[in-house]
Order: sequence, then C-alpha cells, then structure tokens
Amino acid sequence: MEVNTMIYVIGIGPGSINHMTYEARTCIQKCDVIVGYKTYTELIRELTIDKMVVENGMRREVERCQKAIDLAMTGKTVGVISSGDAGVYGMAGLILEMITTLDCPRDSRLRVEIIPGVTASSAAAAIVGAPLMHDYCHISLSDLLTPIDLIEKRIRMATRGEFVMCFYNPRSIGRKDHLSQAFKWISEETGIDLVVAHIKDAYRESQNHAFYTLKTMNFEEVTMTSIVLVGNPQTKIYDEFMITPRGYHV
Ligand SMILES: C[S@@+](CC[C@H](N)C(=O)[O-])C[C@H]1O[C@@H](n2cnc3c(N)ncnc32)[C@H](O)[C@@H]1O
Repeated sequence: MEVNTMIYVIGIGPGSINHMTYEARTCIQKCDVIVGYKTYTELIRELTIDKMVVENGMRREVERCQKAIDLAMTGKTVGVISSGDAGVYGMAGLILEMITTLDCPRDSRLRVEIIPGVTASSAAAAIVGAPLMHDYCHISLSDLLTPIDLIEKRIRMATRGEFVMCFYNPRSIGRKDHLSQAFKWISEETGIDLVVAHIKDAYRESQNHAFYTLKTMNFEEVTMTSIVLVGNPQTKIYDEFMITPRGYHV
C-alpha cells in the first residue's frame, strides 16, 4: 500500500504569530488536523479556526504522537506542533522514532517533514542583545528523561569549556532547586561570577527579562516558561545589552 498522507512536525516559534516562519504558517494551512500540547494549540488558535484540533496535557507526548500517526493513517494531513523548534526538546525526534519503528515496509511509511522554528534560546538572545556570538550549548534541567548525574556532568564540562549555556526547563513546581544547584556546580568549576540573563515568556504577552550574575540571581522569578542564559567569562552587560564578544577589534 502506498501511503501519501503527510505528517508535518511544525516548530511554531516562541509564541507570537509574527515570530513564526512563513513556512510554518503555510504548513498549518495545509493540514486537516493539528495535534499539540494545549498551551501551544492555544497560542496559534487564530490559525486553526477551520481545523480539527487534538490537544492534550503535559507529559503525554507519546500518546499525542500516536494519535497523530493514527489520524495520518486514515488519510488526513496532520500537523504536530511544538513550541520553538520541533527538533529542540520538541516532538520531531519522537515522531521519527515512532514512524521508523512501525512494522511496515519502508515505502509504505507515512511521509514526515520537519518544519524548523525559532528556538527559545535564539528568541531570548535577540531580546537581551547578542549573548550567543560565541560557542554555546543547550542544557535542559528536566531530569524526567535524563539522569541528574548526566546533567551535572554536562554543566561542569560546559563551564570548563567556557561555553555560553542556555538552560531550558530551568524550574518548575517539582524542580524548584535545579537551577540553584546548577549554579553551584558552575561556581565550583569557575572562579568568575558569570553574567546571567533571565528571559520569561519570550515573544508572548507577558514577556520580561532581567540581568543578574551567578551570585545575585533571583531564582524565585524563574518559571517553566523561562529560559536562563549564563555567559562565558568574556560576556558583559553593555548599557541594556548582554554581549558575548566574538573577538573583533572595536
Ligand atoms: C520542552 S522545552 C521546548 C523547547 C522548544 N522546542 C524550543 O525550541 O524552544 C520547553 C522549554 O523551552 C523554553 N521555552 C520555550 N518557549 C519559551 C519562551 N517563549 N520563552 C522562554 N522560554 C521558552 C522554556 O525553558 C521551557 O521550559
């Protein structure tokens, strides 16, 4: 059986429709059904008025992807949405893992296309200036799928390597102390009081940001929809901007 139906895995960007790519909007228009986490389907409600929307809650990613696959098998064009970029802690990997392990011949598989989006680190960086001008890394502080020992190792190694660090999933009700613990590990690896930016709800109505250092950080402000950027030893705050110099002579 040749299957011609399509699953688009669409990164919708950080939140506002204006920061979604043109391609993401076009793909949403092409879909019969949009599947996503409820907070994200709400962010793009104005684009899905004429569509079937299948939404569910947090931590139900496998169920969500299975539903998308089942709907695509019935011949519908399905869009699975992720905030930011679908390939950065999003749904792209899970959809591909599930589809490539389906027990069916390769040429009868569902077709999948990943539509890139603006990830939270790029969005947050633009709000505060240019902190990602040199080598940087993404570290998620969620230990639901990654052991905390491995998270610690990555933080310590990234600090020693002088990477700018972008912390995703920095703090939630169940993980109140992970960010402060991360800052302790960083401080153990460097003698420098590194510059920090906290950006909450980038490109959403409630957006705000503030600058700190490792020592002055206000952890209580950080939420599940925050991203925290820790500079490298050269990163500075100039006027209202966080800048990591690339090394040009100015
Ligand atoms: C499961 S990850 C999804 C990341 C997403 N795929 C991306 O590329 O941005 C969720 C985390 O992304 C970060 N995040 C996503 N959107 C954000 C926004 N608009 N402002 C700040 N942080 C955001 C937060 O750290 C949040 O806990």
